[in-house]
Order: sequence, then C-alpha cells, then structure tokens
Amino acid sequence: MKRLEDKILSEGIALNEQVLKVDSFLNHQVDPKLMQDIGQEFARRFRDNGATKVLTIESSGIAPAIFAALELDVPLIFAKKQKSITLTDELIVEPVYSFTKQMTSHVAVSRKFLNSEDRILIIDDFLANGEAALGLGKIVEKTGASVVGIGIVIEKSFQPGRDKLIEAGYQVESLARIKALAKDNISFVEKGE
Ligand code: G4P
Repeated sequence: MKRLEDKILSEGIALNEQVLKVDSFLNHQVDPKLMQDIGQEFARRFRDNGATKVLTIESSGIAPAIFAALELDVPLIFAKKQKSITLTDELIVEPVYSFTKQMTSHVAVSRKFLNSEDRILIIDDFLANGEAALGLGKIVEKTGASVVGIGIVIEKSFQPGRDKLIEAGYQVESLARIKALAKDNISFVEKGE
C-alpha cells in the first residue's frame, strides 16, 4: 500500500536492523485518516472471505482493526493481555511468547463473543515472529469458529512470522512488507518478489 510505505519512509525510524519505530502514526500517536485507508484496504482484500467478526489484540492492533470492522460492517473484538476485574465471564486463554519482549503474556477472549459459526478475520499491527497471530488463531479454533484470513499492517519479511502463518494454512495479507531495515534505508518487498 503506497501511502503506508511512504509514511513509513518519512516517519519510521529503524532503531536497529530488527525493530522499526512507528510511534508517530501507529503505536502511540495514531493517524486516523491513514487508519481509515488501511481499514478500506483490508476490507477490499478480504471482502469475499465472509468474515462475521474482526479479532485483534490490544493495544496497537485496535486502531487499524476498528476501521477494517467498520468497512466490513462487523463487530471488532480485541483480545486482552491484562486480566481485568470486569472480565468475569468464561475466558479462552492462550499463552503468547514475544521474542521481541522476551516474555509470555496470557491473551484472553471472553467465550461469549465467539461462537462456532463465526468466521474470524485477524488483524494486527506488526508481524514479526507470528506468535500473536498464531495465539489468536488457537483461541478462535478452540471455540469451533474458523479463521478466514490474517491482515497485517507492517510485516517484517526478514523474520519468520509469515512462513509460520502460511504453513499453518492461513491467508496472510500484509499492507507493507519490509525486506530490510537499516539506518536511513528501509526497503520493501516488491510485487512478485
Ligand atoms: P509476533 O507477535 O509476530 O511474534 O511479534 P513479537 O512477539 O516479536 O512482538 C511483540 C510486540 O512487539 C508486539 O506488540 C508487536 O506488535 C511489537 N513489535 C514487533 N516488532 C516490532 C517492530 O519492529 N516495531 C514495533 N513498533 N513493534 C514491534 P505489543 O507488545 O502487543 O504492543 P502493543 O500492541 O501494546 O503496542
């Protein structure tokens, strides 16, 4: 998605060869117009998949996911990483290990928002090692619902996430695919590569 790639080039900062800082439009401050465009692009790519709900994980997945859900006219569920005192319902919990943060969080969704007929579109902000998306996929599958696709805003294609998700049988659509990160040089995977 050209507009997203241009934004990454103008505002993204490669902290090192592994980590891209995009807190001016995605991870801290949020650009609503760009998120709306992102939601429209996800809807365009997944419209024929028959999603009944969008599922993401707090916190940075919520902004792009809400616009995708709005475009597809379905509800958005965001999985919680912290146990909330108001979450008294039966929970479906999955441990998710973050290689970036080197810690495991317990990701939870209330069973009442997922049923076996649901067709779930998973949306997340970053794809690195794929653990968050795989964890969300496991939560969905525990309820008997199905995953109809995974939409990612920024994929780091030099990390193994995409291959793991493809191997697990998912359709993966990433709006920006970063080939390599270096100071003053961020490159993208070209179409057909
Ligand atoms: P994985 O899900 O693909 O396995 O990724 P990983 O565990 O390595 O990522 C853990 C967290 O770090 C996630 O956010 C993910 O979005 C974020 N992350 C991974 N690589 C990058 C990167 O290059 N740049 C930025 N900005 N973030 C990255 P999180 O902990 O869920 O944070 P948040 O959603 O609450 O903001």
